Amino acid sequence: MEKIKIAPSILSADFSNLADEIRFIEQAGADIIHIDVMDGHFVNNITFGPVLIKSIRDKTDLPFDVHLMIDPAYKFIKDFAECGSDIITIHLEIDEKIHESIALIKSFQKKVGLAINPDTDIKELIPYLDRIDQIIIMSVYPGFAGQAFIKDTIDRIHAIRGIISNRNIEVEVDGGINSKVSADCIDAGATILVAGSSIFNNNSYKQSIMNIRQGSNN
Ligand code: DX5
Ligand code: ZN
Repeated sequence: MEKIKIAPSILSADFSNLADEIRFIEQAGADIIHIDVMDGHFVNNITFGPVLIKSIRDKTDLPFDVHLMIDPAYKFIKDFAECGSDIITIHLEIDEKIHESIALIKSFQKKVGLAINPDTDIKELIPYLDRIDQIIIMSVYPGFAGQAFIKDTIDRIHAIRGIISNRNIEVEVDGGINSKVSADCIDAGATILVAGSSIFNNNSYKQSIMNIRQGSNN
């Protein structure tokens, strides 16, 4: 079985020291950097945009997994592609034509993801499955770090695995991940786990990444 990939969300990092934080999590064994972009409209919070992403691009060689919680998204995709993103994920729940946004992301030779909120019917993913590289299954309502993992997510991971069938799509789970829930996510079929507060609020980033990877399941 392939090794589970851990994607720390820099939303919980110390922004006054962001370059070092990114180097520290890379040294601690992170596989991917997860970057949460929020617009104050699609979600009730505002974070950062392409200018910040560009400024940290040369701090690590790890892939940048850019999670766009923004609506509209289409008109900003070029900026997010050009600032150094490797994977660009848009939400299924935005009001725009998803197919066009997927095509635009691919036109920049970037990997493309679709994120699905906890209350959205997983069948809505079906029309896009042949065109995407990853699904982000939200295990909290998007907008803020530090929320509790929604337990129903485990069944949703199983179900989404089922509809993906043998397609080569990463299954990323995002929100409330810690070592207590990670093993169940992995068993259900997750291939990437995002974690913000459970890594950055810990004194040892290395230990917390290791714990999430292994899962203490208690
Ligand atoms: C939620 C974000 C998540 C979140 C992860 O809207 O998409 O990436 O910041 O943080 P924790 O792990 O603290 O839930
Ligand atoms: Zn996220």
